Amino acid sequence: MRQPLVAGNWKMYKTVAEARILIAELLPILSTIQEVDIVLCPPYTSILSIAALLEGTNIHTGAQNMHWEPSGAYTGEIAAPMLAEFCKYVILGHSERRGYFGETDANVNRKIKAAFEYGLLPILCVGETLAENEAGITEQVVVRQVKAGLEGVDPQSISSIVVAYEPVWAIGTGRAATAEGANTVIGGIIRGTLAEMYSEELAQMVRILYGGSVKANNAGEFFQYADIDGALVGGASLKATEFISIVKAAAG
Ligand code: PGA
Repeated sequence: MRQPLVAGNWKMYKTVAEARILIAELLPILSTIQEVDIVLCPPYTSILSIAALLEGTNIHTGAQNMHWEPSGAYTGEIAAPMLAEFCKYVILGHSERRGYFGETDANVNRKIKAAFEYGLLPILCVGETLAENEAGITEQVVVRQVKAGLEGVDPQSISSIVVAYEPVWAIGTGRAATAEGANTVIGGIIRGTLAEMYSEELAQMVRILYGGSVKANNAGEFFQYADIDGALVGGASLKATEFISIVKAAAG
């Protein structure tokens, strides 16, 4: 049985002071929910204080990106060993990184390997753009992103990776994929690709999330599908009541 996982991707929102307020609202309720792995991914500047506030709770800290080298002259970048002091998870290959910052499949692959090397669990994001969806090449794109992102990743690591299927057209648009459509990509295409690359047994161990306009009022529909193991939540993770409802829906 895969433990459901709900991750909040705060993107470039919240100062440390604002982050503390949100944590104070979330903690009393979320800390009582043991059935779900809960991950909060704040901006780098809040990671240290949030990790301290969450210490000893069931809620984990994550980062939104990192560099693949362990150190070096890379102005403005953050490395895996730096994150590993405070974080358990790291989001890699988010479509905003791919789209706005030129992140390639090859660099995502380097980052995935570096994350494992330093004990971080990657949340690998994949998903097609609107144009790719309309051109009917969703499967091709998602298979390429999964294969290239995980190329050379050893089977011992793979069961602890998290994959997030996030159709780009559904992110921040209020236009979520249908739960049935997401389940087809997640259960069929992504889990199928993992089975082909590794084994059916390993593919069944990997948690695969849906992301893209998940809200309190639609989360339950996604979690009804056996192959959808949770959600990567952007906008709705910035509001305590919304995020708590989503986590509760995942707890079943
Ligand atoms: P959204 O973002 O929930 O605001 O659509 C999801 C994401 O980008 O991970």
